[in-house]
Amino acid sequence: MTIPSTPILDTVDVYGRVTRWLHWSIALLLAWQFLGMGLKLIFGRQPFLAPLVGSHQPVGTVLFVLIVLRVIWAVVNRRNRPRHGNGLLGIAAVTGHGLLYLAMVMVPCVALLRAYGSERAFAPFGFEIFPARATEIGWMVDLGGLLHGELGWVLGALILGHVVMVGIHETMWRDGTLARMTRAGS
Ligand code: HEM
Repeated sequence: MTIPSTPILDTVDVYGRVTRWLHWSIALLLAWQFLGMGLKLIFGRQPFLAPLVGSHQPVGTVLFVLIVLRVIWAVVNRRNRPRHGNGLLGIAAVTGHGLLYLAMVMVPCVALLRAYGSERAFAPFGFEIFPARATEIGWMVDLGGLLHGELGWVLGALILGHVVMVGIHETMWRDGTLARMTRAGS
């Protein structure tokens, strides 16, 4: 018996290894971000939340890099991915995924724009990416302040919808949707 191994690139049947690695590492880091911000919302800035809240900006920066790679990888594989069907559900799935991508890109982008325009230096993991500036760039700071948190929660709601839909696929329709991103197969 030969055990099917997961291909590196995506196919029309399954997502490949690179897509899976990007998908699950981004999911894990996003969960970390939402856990930290959710607990901060409930309890306020408590000392016991310092590791979660204090890592928000560096983890968000890593997420930004992974999300950019994910978008590039999705474009490279666009003709070779599992299809979602042509009906209304297929259109809904494609639209939902498109919105997820859009929010995933915009949330860290507006935060980084705010960090760039801010008077304070931005140095995730101790590496200075944006030096301190004498005067802030008002519109960048304002845009980040206006959109980052709100879009962050919109992204959270979209992820929740995504998870619920996978649950429906698994329990009601039993069409193997989750397996495309988890089980071995060529
Ligand atoms: C995909 C990555 C990210 C997600 C999902 C995310 C999500 C969030 C959420 C949900 C909040 C809570 C807003 C509230 O208090 O209501 C927040 C706050 C915050 N985030 Fe992020 N974030 C990400 C990346 C970043 C990055 C890269 C930076 C820094 C450059 C950053 C800086 C901040 C700061 C300073 C706050 C606190 C106050 C505020 O701006 O509203 N985040 N983030």
